[in-house]
Amino acid sequence: MKLTARPGGPLQGEADVPGDKSCSHRALILGAMAEGTTRISGLLQSADIFATVAAIKTLGGNVEQHGEEWLVRSGPWRGPVAIDCGNSGTAARLLMGAVAGMPGVHAMFSGDASLSARPMQRVTLPLARMGATIQGGDRLPIAVEGTHLGGIEHRNVPASAQVKSAILLAGLGTGAPVTVIEAVPSRDHTEIMLHQFGCDVAVDDGPNGWTTSLGTRRAPVACELSIASDPSSAAFPLVAATIVPGSDVMVRGMLVNPLRTGLYEVLEQMGGEIDLSNERIQSGEIVADVRVRAAPLAPCHVRAEQVPAMVDEIPVLAIACAFADGESVIEGLAELRLKESDRLGAVIAGLTACGIGAVADGDTLRIFGAAKVRGGAGVATQGDHRIAMAFLTLGLAAEQPVEVDEAEMIATSFPDFVEVMQSLGAGIG
Ligand code: S3P
Repeated sequence: MKLTARPGGPLQGEADVPGDKSCSHRALILGAMAEGTTRISGLLQSADIFATVAAIKTLGGNVEQHGEEWLVRSGPWRGPVAIDCGNSGTAARLLMGAVAGMPGVHAMFSGDASLSARPMQRVTLPLARMGATIQGGDRLPIAVEGTHLGGIEHRNVPASAQVKSAILLAGLGTGAPVTVIEAVPSRDHTEIMLHQFGCDVAVDDGPNGWTTSLGTRRAPVACELSIASDPSSAAFPLVAATIVPGSDVMVRGMLVNPLRTGLYEVLEQMGGEIDLSNERIQSGEIVADVRVRAAPLAPCHVRAEQVPAMVDEIPVLAIACAFADGESVIEGLAELRLKESDRLGAVIAGLTACGIGAVADGDTLRIFGAAKVRGGAGVATQGDHRIAMAFLTLGLAAEQPVEVDEAEMIATSFPDFVEVMQSLGAGIG
């Protein structure tokens, strides 16, 4: 399915952004590992999350939807089973960790063509060091056999929350020391949620780096969780509000965990008008109402250590940079080539097609932005939801419409994207 975004008037109103994808996966997986029934509200209902729901049911857990609330209970985990993770790297990597620490459970993991091209040894090598039996190489399909694991001290290079989370979930079944060290911290939702489930995790910014260690309480106990709106999905309406003149858009109850707000900090430095209000704590996470008004943007220079806090937002940051007159530089993007698509390549091809100069200089992206962006192109999404949404965002502020070639994958993270954007007045269809 193709979709077209047409330039038009200002975007106005409240964007109804769904629940955070990272937190939704974790809530379901920890709920399925915990004693008792976990109640989740605000769960993202998207294809990636349904892959995790299906996996949990296959593994013997129980997941039920009651109106707005989802109830999760552990069953005795069972195997051998086959688990299809679809397009979701988080489902595959976190569930491999959870299975690895469950003695007697044996699961064969597979995924779609995109997921089957993504590296998995970053997870399976540390799990094997802990004692799990793994069959397969760096790509899916991979079989994981759970057992009583030993401990590990793992240096997580490059910083990856999926790898860290897989190790922490695997480590819940052992009493041995389990520590992950990162030079720059990756998102910490697993650690925050483990506290909600009554487990202890210590985080220390020491001389060796950012150190995350499991404590002695490792048996998760069911809890109630309310999941905030996803800042990675909100990024599309909020960047659109910045670049479409006269816009004023609000997202209520957005997750503003500082390890996820890198895009918003950079946008502010570029001249973006972003106001946070009503900051509060919700299920251990910081949440706020975020209002963005249109503003002229100046180019940015993003350093590699800033990237983990905005790793999924680079495509839409690149769109903001296209409208910032001058050269923007974003360093440290090697990981972008390993996401749902080669995002660095897809962003450069898309910007170039829309009349904006963009080049990769090693793992640095240089974008030569302009006050006016031509658009008027067909953009190849490479089957990547965030590439599709990023270029539809560009089309709203360009001189001519932009068409994306495949929009189905938007359903992996933000199924109501088109309706939400239309409700603000955007011409997408
Ligand atoms: C995620 C971590 C990030 C991110 C992904 C979700 C998570 O990946 O890109 O979309 O939920 O832990 P890495 O851990 O590979 O950096």
